[in-house]
Amino acid sequence: MPEKKTFYITTPIYYPSANLHIGHALTTVMADTMARYKRIKGYDVWFLTGSDEHGQKIERTARGQNIEPKAYVDNIVASFKKLWSRLNISFDDFIRTTDERHKKVVQYIFKKIYENGDIYKSEYEGWYCTPCETFFTERQLNAGNCPDCGRSVELIKEESYFFKMSKYQDQLLEYIEKNPDFIQPVSRRNEMVNFIKQGLEDLCVSRTTFDWGIPVPINEKHVIYVWFDALTNYISALGYGTENDELYQKYWPADIHLVGKDIVRFHTVIWPTILMAAGLPLPKKVYGHGWLLLESGKMSKSKGNVVDPNVLIDKYGVDAIRYFLLREIPAGSDGYYSEEALIQRCNTDLANDFGNLVSRTVAMVDKYFGGIIPEGNVSGEFDDDLKSLAAKVPVEAENFIENMDFANGLASIWKLINRANKYIDETMPWILAKEEKEKGRLGTVLYNLLETIRISTILLIPAMPLLPAKVSEQIGFDFSNSKWDDAKAWGLIKPGSKVSKKEAIFPRIDPKILEFKPEVKTVEQVNVSEMEPIKEEITIDDFAKLDLRVVEVIHCEKVEKADKLLKLEVKLGDEIRTIVSGIAKYYEPQDLVGKKVVLVANLKPAKLRGIMSQGMILAASTKDDLEVLTINKNLPIGSKVK
Ligand code: MSP
Repeated sequence: MPEKKTFYITTPIYYPSANLHIGHALTTVMADTMARYKRIKGYDVWFLTGSDEHGQKIERTARGQNIEPKAYVDNIVASFKKLWSRLNISFDDFIRTTDERHKKVVQYIFKKIYENGDIYKSEYEGWYCTPCETFFTERQLNAGNCPDCGRSVELIKEESYFFKMSKYQDQLLEYIEKNPDFIQPVSRRNEMVNFIKQGLEDLCVSRTTFDWGIPVPINEKHVIYVWFDALTNYISALGYGTENDELYQKYWPADIHLVGKDIVRFHTVIWPTILMAAGLPLPKKVYGHGWLLLESGKMSKSKGNVVDPNVLIDKYGVDAIRYFLLREIPAGSDGYYSEEALIQRCNTDLANDFGNLVSRTVAMVDKYFGGIIPEGNVSGEFDDDLKSLAAKVPVEAENFIENMDFANGLASIWKLINRANKYIDETMPWILAKEEKEKGRLGTVLYNLLETIRISTILLIPAMPLLPAKVSEQIGFDFSNSKWDDAKAWGLIKPGSKVSKKEAIFPRIDPKILEFKPEVKTVEQVNVSEMEPIKEEITIDDFAKLDLRVVEVIHCEKVEKADKLLKLEVKLGDEIRTIVSGIAKYYEPQDLVGKKVVLVANLKPAKLRGIMSQGMILAASTKDDLEVLTINKNLPIGSKVK
């Protein structure tokens, strides 16, 4: 027997700096759908996902919670695996960058490139965006901030190892030109070509100011830059560079690295040049899909609008979520999520179009044929139309799916489902049932409907893995060994087998569900994912520069025409100071009078709304609440706070 063709697909490895949201679920569900599709097309598939656990961002988040980074990531990675299992993600391997097997390979490649002369030591001076874990030159910044995420960047100056990325610029451009499929969709390829043509600089590939990373094998003072570390997962997981490299031999180069558009640059510039320097083949395709947006814009921890897939799975079921994500996001472009749109898809496409088709058909076989599937040998009007569409749709859907266009792939399958619904209206089985002589024709109509259901279900196996078992329960056809090409054949259902009526496959969802609000927790805790990152380390001497004192509020009033501001008079020794503070939303002036609060006593005075403010009082806050720090014991005014 000839060997099966192989297919290797990967997702990005996600940062365990916070829990995953539906944006991450989109990438992984798309990759899973592709993997399942290729499996039933007869490929030998390897599907890899994982977690990207090193770097300054993770270290800071963990330390900010007084947890060791490893213990911190262990916890979150467990939640990743749980989510993927709930979403029926059929990955073959889960790589963690903290795995020994990974670390060894990263060090091996680093050393190999160093020994080839493409990594050298120098000094880095420039900007770093910790949330994106990316280096930027002054020129690349956008109004002084990160050009990718808009957040503030830090100036770093440290001894570093550099990778001679610039050396590979022409080779990379040539590769992209000769392999038009390498970067997809085309719009992203054009973006990348323009980016590369502006000139590649050498890449800083090590850091010395923190240690949560893989040590540079030739100098343990350095840790390897987190993107160099992370990108290597795609081959470390296959055992590249080890004695056990059969998977690497079998599956590399990858057929598709599926990534969000935000990280196409890393995958089409840094990763291929690393591979070139290591003398390894390049992946066949990097596909950059669009973003899942909310009507209010991007999902973000600071906006507090992150949608948790677990909550949606509990409410609507896994297949419905998968269907929505795949159906609603056009290939390569951005798409929108809203719970209303999700409910609409569930009710229209799933409950009405598909669910009703199955229940009506099964109910009629039950009623007119005692549940026994009839022969389909009395053809009539409308049959050819239905059958020719049933022959066309698998080919059309396949073409879309091959191009990662799941939205159009599903739309094509729905053309068939809706054609079948129309066929019921056209053939009117309830009228045929009235005349005994039409029994053969009635049987054929129902048989044709069952065949259309069978074909559509096969085409939906990749997108909705729980569906075939549910359909099988009703129409009695076993899908467990179905292949994609079985959808291209007509007549696989055996007359004489039985259907059985069951509950609706996709129950209708009452839109009132949206009014349901989960109980509010009484003890609120800043969600790890919403917490601002901890600032750069300071010394005790830095802290000692602050002079914090207990003062008493002796007078307080609103500032005219400034609804956020209160003007406070506070007593400090024999001084009375005026302080302007942006707390008017949270306190009535009289609430503060007589309170002992903490003042930054040596802050340079500043004018606010024409009033000179002589210091600042301390308060704890979230995005929608605030509490001024008060001293409740009988400590004298002027006491130091340290
Ligand atoms: N750790 C890096 C990837 C390293 S791969 C060698 C990283 N991780 S991440 O957790 O920040 O996000 C990775 C991916 O999640 C994005 O590229 C994208 O595929 C997906 N998404 C995150 N938010 C998303 C949306 N709102 N919409 C669609 N995809 C989103 O970057």
